[in-house]
Amino acid sequence: MPPAPLVCLLVVAWESHTGAKPIFVVKAVNAIRTLIVQNLVISRESPHDSAPVTLTARTPAAAKGVYTMKPSLRPDGPPARIPSGLPPPGNFQVNASILDILGSGRCGSVLEVDISSITDADGPNLGLICPPELCLPKLVLKVADAARLEDLGNEASMYDEMEALQGVAIPRCYGWFEGTVQPSQRLITDDPEAPVPAHRSRRVSALLLEKMGGMLPVGERLPDRHVRLNHFPADGHSYQLGIEQQDMRYANILYAPNNPRFPGKICPYHGRVHPYRAIDFDRARKTDWTLKQHYYEHVGTLGRLLETMEMNMILEPWEY
Ligand SMILES: *[C@@H]1O[C@H](CO)[C@@H](O)[C@H](O)[C@H]1NC(C)=O
Repeated sequence: MPPAPLVCLLVVAWESHTGAKPIFVVKAVNAIRTLIVQNLVISRESPHDSAPVTLTARTPAAAKGVYTMKPSLRPDGPPARIPSGLPPPGNFQVNASILDILGSGRCGSVLEVDISSITDADGPNLGLICPPELCLPKLVLKVADAARLEDLGNEASMYDEMEALQGVAIPRCYGWFEGTVQPSQRLITDDPEAPVPAHRSRRVSALLLEKMGGMLPVGERLPDRHVRLNHFPADGHSYQLGIEQQDMRYANILYAPNNPRFPGKICPYHGRVHPYRAIDFDRARKTDWTLKQHYYEHVGTLGRLLETMEMNMILEPWEY
């Protein structure tokens, strides 16, 4: 790989030569309109036959604020969304294929994806934007289980609401995409034994998210212990926006990815780059709590989690 300045020069030369969109336009998290995914949809009859599925970007519903009955509430109710800093949505098409199933949870599965091409549907001759790794970080696709489509829609709204925290305290979200598969087909993550509603196509719903780093160490002190609570998204960050994660547990706090092309952004609240990211907002909600109330609600959960992690145990929220 040539050194970064050379790559940039080549890209700029190539951009002006082809009339392609400048790279910063492609890098915006709302640049992708169409996602064509290979190896996600297979035939029920012969599971070795896979067909590409076309998913289209959807605009998430605005997060509805929830009014609660807690002791310390904001006088004006749940906070308003911070105005978006994004450019107008792009019209790029991304071709991707599934590499691996990384895990599955309450609402769906997380799949590792490889991006093979990015094309600009508005560009001259369907201008090919390349190479993809300059425009996009490593990505995962979070695909909803058939019975959890609404939860993923909620998560899409939460990522939208927390735009200012993407790349700061939560992953960058490159969009919420939907499509359909025929009754004769299923997703690789669907249970093959599950009964199929006759003649009903299955809605596919997925979030395209920045892939995170690894899990936190268990049995050792995190190096920045004295300030660590401030680094945890649940404490210092989503609080500012009123978001309650509702599922703060070991598996949902990860290291930030280590990609010099897509570094963590400086936190608007703490003035530094944080090493951790919170994930999994399918059950999150926007509340009317004050910062103090958020603190009361979560300091117990998070404090206990971190303490027991240092003692080489993982204490799940349902265990205390
Ligand atoms: C993207 O995938 C579609 C469907 O497989 C294919 O027709 C198209 O040529 C691909 N585009 C590129 C640029 O590879």
